[in-house]
Amino acid sequence: MEAERRDTSVLLVFAHPALERSRANAVLADAARKAVGVTFHDLYEVYPDFVIDVEAEQALLLAHQVIALQFPFYWYSTPALLKEWLDLVWLHGFAYGKGGDRLKGKQLFVACTTGGPAQAYHQRGANRFTMEEFLRPLEQTAALCGMTWENPYVVHGARLKDDDHIRREAEGYRARLEGLAAAARETAR
Ligand SMILES: Cc1cc2nc3c(=O)[nH]c(=O)nc-3n(C[C@H](O)[C@H](O)[C@H](O)COP(=O)(O)O)c2cc1C
Repeated sequence: MEAERRDTSVLLVFAHPALERSRANAVLADAARKAVGVTFHDLYEVYPDFVIDVEAEQALLLAHQVIALQFPFYWYSTPALLKEWLDLVWLHGFAYGKGGDRLKGKQLFVACTTGGPAQAYHQRGANRFTMEEFLRPLEQTAALCGMTWENPYVVHGARLKDDDHIRREAEGYRARLEGLAAAARETAR
């Protein structure tokens, strides 16, 4: 199992089950792969059969200060392999519970795309709840593990946006990742 770069401060865990059909995440992922200070780790590429190397994943987590999760929003949640990765890797005694303080002090950053437009993610919109509310399980996961929750990067209406818009989003996303990486490097000095 080999992630693309080591000795970087942001671990970007990427999960898209059909990257060949992706528009938004493919462009965002390209930008993230070029970001300075970011280790790009594509879960569906590394584990197409869902057999996750737990020790290797824990070692990757320990080697980075910022844990970033990038995914398309599926059924108001993460794609299945990302959930499997959380279930198997973020173990009791490692991530939480007695002796489970290995992620404490790190940051959790979520970047996701939705099919629904921004106005659908509203109390009176089609999805009835805000994105902030839908992401609460991850926010609380960070809290349980003693991690800082970074303001998420969300691209709404991903299928409706034209190529220029997606490219601009990707630039903003890359800048955000590089900002997190630079801040983490600064703190580590
Ligand atoms: C199985 C599945 C479930 C989805 N669930 C949601 C959802 O709950 N909310 C939403 O806004 N979009 C949903 N979508 C739309 C995707 O989020 C959207 O197509 C994706 O973010 C676009 O990114 P991509 O071009 O990288 O695939 C779903 C799509 C699929 C295939």
